[in-house]
Amino acid sequence: MFTLETAATAAYVVAALLFILALAGLSKHETSRAGNTFGMAGMVVALVATIALALARHIEPLGLSLLIGAMAIGAAIGLWRARVVEMTGMPELIALLHSFVGLAAVLVGWNGYLHVEHDPAGGEATLLDSQGMLGIHSAEVFIGVFIGAVTFTGSIVANLKLSARIKSAPLMLPGKNFLNVGALVLFVAFTVWFVIDPQLWLLIVVTVLALLLGWHLVASIGGGDMPVVVSMLNSYSGWAAAASGFLLSNDLLIVTGALVGSSGAYLSYIMCKAMNRSFISVIAGGFGIEAGPAEDKDYGEHREITAEGAAELLSSASSVIITPGYGMAVAQAQYGVAELTRKLRERGVTVRFGIHPVAGRLPGHMNVLLAEAKVPYDIVLEMDEVNDDFDSTSVVLVIGANDTVNPAASEDPSSPIAGMPVLTVWNAEHVIVFKRSMASGYAGVQNPLFFRENTQMLFGDARDRVDDINAAL
Ligand code: TAP
Repeated sequence: MFTLETAATAAYVVAALLFILALAGLSKHETSRAGNTFGMAGMVVALVATIALALARHIEPLGLSLLIGAMAIGAAIGLWRARVVEMTGMPELIALLHSFVGLAAVLVGWNGYLHVEHDPAGGEATLLDSQGMLGIHSAEVFIGVFIGAVTFTGSIVANLKLSARIKSAPLMLPGKNFLNVGALVLFVAFTVWFVIDPQLWLLIVVTVLALLLGWHLVASIGGGDMPVVVSMLNSYSGWAAAASGFLLSNDLLIVTGALVGSSGAYLSYIMCKAMNRSFISVIAGGFGIEAGPAEDKDYGEHREITAEGAAELLSSASSVIITPGYGMAVAQAQYGVAELTRKLRERGVTVRFGIHPVAGRLPGHMNVLLAEAKVPYDIVLEMDEVNDDFDSTSVVLVIGANDTVNPAASEDPSSPIAGMPVLTVWNAEHVIVFKRSMASGYAGVQNPLFFRENTQMLFGDARDRVDDINAAL
């Protein structure tokens, strides 16, 4: 028989399929817009179905007004933030959004406890008890609250670090690995206890423990490894949502949470491989990474070049590789860079882009900016595709990149970014580095590239300097 309830369940299946199509679409440049559209359509279907389901279950008028009110406020804030956010502010916004998912999971877990375990004579508790499911419910509450709380504080720390409101250097508490492992062991022991005897104080303790653990896990991860943390938190937020889905018996939330959880975990794995970091060490919160000694090494003198000098060098070049980084995003220099590319190609210079997997502040940051400025996809190459070509390249333009072109990563085993694969720009004939000062990059380490014989610094805002070169050309 057709009821609102069956219609809503069918709509959930449609929404789940749309979310899968969204993920498939987002895996390629060409289909990413369609992917986003599928995702938005899936969300609309899911929201409408949720309201329909609430109506089918005879939600009280107050509940319905709260539900609609919350959706309207959320939508208004979401639309406003999405409109005003700068591309460079995306990662911290994403981290903040993950914290909401974590908080929601904690609240859903607490709500589940208050309705069932805390009210053993109530309807829901008696029903679950008669089905022998009370223990499972308690486990769901406990696990959901734990994952949610870790995600909540972890994402807040990530937000604060990415927006530079707290220092990005790793927090080094003595015995930090012991603290993390100890917290996990306590969590397992308390879960067993809570399933046997669901007492309020246990839930309070696990909530506090998880809040502290989330804070510590992310605080102990240093600058260079933050990208993996953001995608790890994305994954945690997915599992937190899935845990809430089990508690609320909401299949769509379970499916969506699992999709987000597993795709986030896979992305973190790919990024760890790209940065030569161990996956386990990053999930365990910077396990085994020691802080490097403060640097006071003398690298010698750097040399400078003017925009006119750079234009001259570029006009006589046969091949140019541009390696953009976070500074290109800050300066919004991508349009000027696209024009420079066009001008050079018209003169017969081979121009390509070399994109480091963690250039910028979020996965695909540079690709998005270059696509926005209409740089053709086929000249935008991955690090592995260009790294062997630098020694046959006349000029490399390093535009607002720093850590991703740091030779110390491959040459200095004591460097905090040692082992991270980098773009080997120094093998080219000439390297021009666009930045505003001699300051270090995100990981806070000095870059010996700036002092190499074949490197010249072009100081100033990247956008202004690129415009100057365009004018000189
Ligand atoms: P960074 O190492 O952060 O270096 C960016 C450089 O751009 C800085 O040295 C800065 O120097 C320069 N800059 C800033 N504003 C500029 C402007 N307006 N004009 C010209 N230059 C400007 O960037 P990267 O090479 O892209 O490396 C990315 C780093 O961020 C890595 O350590 C990575 O691990 C981390 N990270 C990445 C992600 C993801 S997922 N991609 C997420 C979080 C963190 P001045 O201040 O001297 O101008």
